[in-house]
Amino acid sequence: MTITRCDLNDASILEGLFSVLYKPELKWSRELIEQEIRSGRKIYFIALEEDVLGAFGIELEEREAKFGPISIKPQYQKRGVGSQLIRFAESLARGRGLVRIWCHSLERYHTEGFYEYHGWKMEKFIKDFWDGQNCYLFSKEL
Ligand SMILES: CC(C)(COP(=O)(O)OP(=O)(O)OC[C@H]1O[C@@H](n2cnc3c(N)ncnc32)[C@H](O)[C@@H]1OP(=O)(O)O)[C@@H](O)C(=O)NCCC(=O)NCCS
Repeated sequence: MTITRCDLNDASILEGLFSVLYKPELKWSRELIEQEIRSGRKIYFIALEEDVLGAFGIELEEREAKFGPISIKPQYQKRGVGSQLIRFAESLARGRGLVRIWCHSLERYHTEGFYEYHGWKMEKFIKDFWDGQNCYLFSKEL
């Protein structure tokens, strides 16, 4: 498996991967992803074999990294691909000297097990976080 940084040409692939998450028109349209890539605010990486397996985004801030979204194609889930991506994100942030990585994860994804498996702590449960959805805030010191 290789993990490569995405450019503007990958925006439709990312839209396809993330549109399963929640109302793509609000967050994951190709246009919005292109804007983020263009501005450099968020960077995206894609996991590839012969096929695209999954992808994630990350914002590298002054002291911390904001992780997410992450999405693995259903047929490639539960095979360690998500783990390789989250570890890659952690080492990227650590390599930049950042001290903490965190993410918001909507309650409806039920991903507590995934973040806790990687040593992330659930800091908060936020009711009605966005569009009526509850969410968790997970984080890890680097
Ligand atoms: C959540 C997701 C990223 C995990 O990726 P993955 O490649 O399937 O996960 P891995 O195979 O690396 O799993 C590693 C460990 O995390 C845990 N885990 C993985 N997915 C989990 C889930 N959905 N819920 C609870 N625990 C999970 C398991 O303990 C697993 O270890 P095990 O296989 O030894 O039991 C992936 O399932 C996915 O894309 N889901 C749909 C989109 C989504 O919900 N994204 C999260 C947005 S915050």
